Amino acid sequence: MKSVVLPAYNKNILRAILSLEIQEKEVPKLNDDEVLIKTHAAPVNPSDVAFIQGGYNIVKQLPAVPGFEGSGVIVDAGKNANDLIKKKVSAFVQTNHDGSWAEYFVARKKDLIILQDDMDMDQAACFTVNPFTAYALMEIALIRESKAIVQNAAGAQVAALIRTMARENEMEVINIVRKAETAAFLKQQGIQHVLNQTDDTFEEQLKSLSLQLQATTALDAVGGELAGQMFNAMADDSELVVYGGLSGKPLSGIGLMGVIFKNKIISGFNLMDWKRELDTSEFEQVSNELQDKIISGIYKTEIQETVGLDQIVQGLKTYLGNMSGGKILIKP
Ligand SMILES: NC(=O)c1ccc[n+]([C@@H]2O[C@H](COP(=O)([O-])OP(=O)(O)OC[C@H]3O[C@@H](n4cnc5c(N)ncnc54)[C@H](OP(=O)(O)O)[C@@H]3O)[C@@H](O)[C@H]2O)c1
Repeated sequence: MKSVVLPAYNKNILRAILSLEIQEKEVPKLNDDEVLIKTHAAPVNPSDVAFIQGGYNIVKQLPAVPGFEGSGVIVDAGKNANDLIKKKVSAFVQTNHDGSWAEYFVARKKDLIILQDDMDMDQAACFTVNPFTAYALMEIALIRESKAIVQNAAGAQVAALIRTMARENEMEVINIVRKAETAAFLKQQGIQHVLNQTDDTFEEQLKSLSLQLQATTALDAVGGELAGQMFNAMADDSELVVYGGLSGKPLSGIGLMGVIFKNKIISGFNLMDWKRELDTSEFEQVSNELQDKIISGIYKTEIQETVGLDQIVQGLKTYLGNMSGGKILIKP
């Protein structure tokens, strides 16, 4: 089977991308609880970029095939998963196995989502991680009874889903981006509160808007100084939820007074831990709710380009040049 192979980690992202090879590999043998999926599509996510740089919390023995999620049809199965053959699935692959950037990939039965018949398979390729993350982050804001939330990396697909969910819950959103063109793009879509983190008056604007809208949940996918600015701008009794580290920098500039005297807290969010807390029926209920809304077009992952395995280098360059433009899908 044709696969994208990473021979070695490289912190320099361009070198890491250029080192990717297309190889013919043996179709893997399956354990009892595993299935073989014929790949329909697999996306490129920030976690894949961090992974090929050796900067993600999953480090595999190399050479290995990248790709942590994908969609497809089950074509073979171990003896405990035989009933799943021919099912359409979204799958998550964060084991030590090869990933989803290949003609076929292996997933554990427990990491599969059996899809509803009407689910679009491109949307399904981006289903196991981002929609659930947005759902869970929105749950945090709802439990906190926040009237408004602040989010950075607001051109991202998670952020777009959060905006839709916030609208459903009549919650305001303050959106922070790092590029003027992303700010313009969001405003063109009618999105009201958009701030550019590079503006000279950014901190003042953020503070006054956060207090005016009573934003008490901040969702941080970036880290660094920006996380501190968000934390400090928010009202008393607020929570900064850190769920991504796009800047690669530690949280900084967190105001001590807010932590000691204003009852402000910082927490971390990881989808896998959230998922572990749910039993199968609770997870299925959320999954069906999300699938219904994807099928009806209410929730959507924007896809900017589809590439074959052979065009992986060009696809990754396109994605890194315009991450806010939408996902790149790899289709073998
Ligand atoms: N904790 C979890 O369980 C979990 C689960 C899912 C996703 N996540 C995280 O959620 C975040 C968004 O993921 P996604 O798939 O929605 O992303 P995406 O659609 O691929 O877009 C990435 C976004 O990040 C922005 N960005 C990249 N580097 C940045 C930086 N240094 N400073 C500010 N903005 C930056 C990009 O803006 P430009 O266009 O300006 O480059 C773009 O808007 C990522 O951090 C991801 O790791 C976490």
